[in-house]
Amino acid sequence: MCGIVGYIGDKNAQNFLISGLKRLEYRGYDSAGIVTLDDSGKATLLRAKGKIANLEEKLAKAKREDHIGIGHTRWATHGEPSETNAHPHQAGPIYVVHNGIIENYKELKAELTDFEFKSETDSEVLAALINSFYQDGKYPLANAVVQALKLVKGTYGIAVVSELAPEEMVVARSGSPLVIGVGHDETLVASDASALLGHTKRAIYLNDGEVAVIGKNSVEIKTLNAEPVSAKVEEIETNLAAIQKGGYDHFLLKEIMEQPESLKETLRGRVNAEEGTVHLGGPGLSEAELRKIRHLVIVGCGTAYHAGLLASYYIERFTPEVTVEVVIASEYRYRSAYIPEDSVALIVSQSGETADTLACLREIKKQGVRTVGIVNAIGSTIAREVDGGTYVHVGPEISVASTKAFTSQVIAMVMFGLTIAQAKGVKSAVLGPYVKEIAALPEAIRMVLDVVPKEVQKIAKKYAKYEHAIYLGRDTAYPTAMEGALKLKEVSYVDANAYAFGELKHGPLALVDDRFFEMVLLPAGVLYDKAVSNIQEVLARGGHVVVVTNADGFDLPVESVIRLGGEIEIFAPLLMNLVSQLFAYYVTVAKGLNVDQPRNLAKSVTVE
Ligand code: G6P
Repeated sequence: MCGIVGYIGDKNAQNFLISGLKRLEYRGYDSAGIVTLDDSGKATLLRAKGKIANLEEKLAKAKREDHIGIGHTRWATHGEPSETNAHPHQAGPIYVVHNGIIENYKELKAELTDFEFKSETDSEVLAALINSFYQDGKYPLANAVVQALKLVKGTYGIAVVSELAPEEMVVARSGSPLVIGVGHDETLVASDASALLGHTKRAIYLNDGEVAVIGKNSVEIKTLNAEPVSAKVEEIETNLAAIQKGGYDHFLLKEIMEQPESLKETLRGRVNAEEGTVHLGGPGLSEAELRKIRHLVIVGCGTAYHAGLLASYYIERFTPEVTVEVVIASEYRYRSAYIPEDSVALIVSQSGETADTLACLREIKKQGVRTVGIVNAIGSTIAREVDGGTYVHVGPEISVASTKAFTSQVIAMVMFGLTIAQAKGVKSAVLGPYVKEIAALPEAIRMVLDVVPKEVQKIAKKYAKYEHAIYLGRDTAYPTAMEGALKLKEVSYVDANAYAFGELKHGPLALVDDRFFEMVLLPAGVLYDKAVSNIQEVLARGGHVVVVTNADGFDLPVESVIRLGGEIEIFAPLLMNLVSQLFAYYVTVAKGLNVDQPRNLAKSVTVE
């Protein structure tokens, strides 16, 4: 959600800022801006509504050889996307880029009576506030920033420069990520390490409540209370290829197609198919602690929430005496839920930065409950704050719609469930089939992705004209249907909703008419016959039914069928989800929409 970049060094600052912003564009993309300072402090501020490409057009007429600057790509919270509301915001000699939300901005604004506000943003208040403490350079920039931040309620990742001090930059964070890249004769700043790749692999991840003063060869970190912090330089694990499209038209398709490999990374060193066992070191729970677990709370948002729901169906099948509760983070953080003793909370997040999920983690920790992260982004805030965790290791996910992370999150959570079951002495006759299928999944996924895309594309073209869709499934196919519907709505703007098939006649059946099509996920096995009867009910009302199934015998006269072969039974819904992902992709392409950056959304939601 919003991207920040900063540069100070020997090279051209504008160049880095623009290339860095492009890397971060998936985080927010309704306006963008940069400011650079020359050696005398003279500023060049460029801002534009819309994509970075619009900013580049302005840059073409305002090229500078400046060596310090900050930039921002915005996902609007306060105030519509416009040039005036775009960052950097200026107050006197001060320029600020900000991620997050200043919750008490109205109160602060009311106090800043001398300042003439130009934008509707909360971030401009921050610039004005810093400037009020700076008093035209009477006090050091870092002091002014700290004074201002002490008055702020809310979340922020910020970078600040001053025309009066063109040799330094001040950055700070609370609730919004900020990474400092340590290079040779240059120091870089970004809200996401991917913007630093190709420049440096050495990074310092700032913690909440820390402020850093940055020079081209220096980084000095303190807490807001002026206690010095010794900087820990870490290696960035991602490489450049991982954040490029690699021959695909869109990141979404690339990330769908990567799943055989990305799931392999999730499984690496953790699954022993021969013995039928799994081993997860990261959660850091002893056998005795695992045996004691009676309750799991799974917390997530969006796709991560759906992954939790699907995993819960599996975990409760083979883990005796354990209840599993799956909750939406934005709701759970404000509920007064009692978490029983002997609980473990699984905190699920691709980015590791989602504000609501992070807030839940902190609430749950306050209750003394052990937390385990199911996270993708290495070194992210959630990954650092959980008591233990299992990285899913799917590599960077750039497309706003989450795909490869989902598959791996489900399996990582199932593996955690298996670890509990193993400790509780559940027989390998029960657990073995799960482990065997998990080990076989990457190859099964490859086989599906080798065959189905063309067929799905054809069917997607046919249904791209519909504005409404109903996704249906029972048992494990139900959360999978929920994820399928989310995929379709977020990228193609089709009004897609999922229902438990058994619920259909309690209301949604009234919707069935020519404006809708019905996407049914129909795994062989559990509740197959019941789901087939449900399909009959839809057909009897003239429904436009598409079925995705791995059942050989399926022969109802529906409009379209996508058949999946292969040996996978237990995890067949994950294979069906590949079809849903591809379907959403091809509908969106057929409609000519922006696949990777759907309107109004952002990849990492670091505000409430
Ligand atoms: C955003 C993304 C979704 C994602 C959700 C949770 O809404 O667009 O794709 O599922 O956030 O993100 P997380 O990073 O916590 O998994």
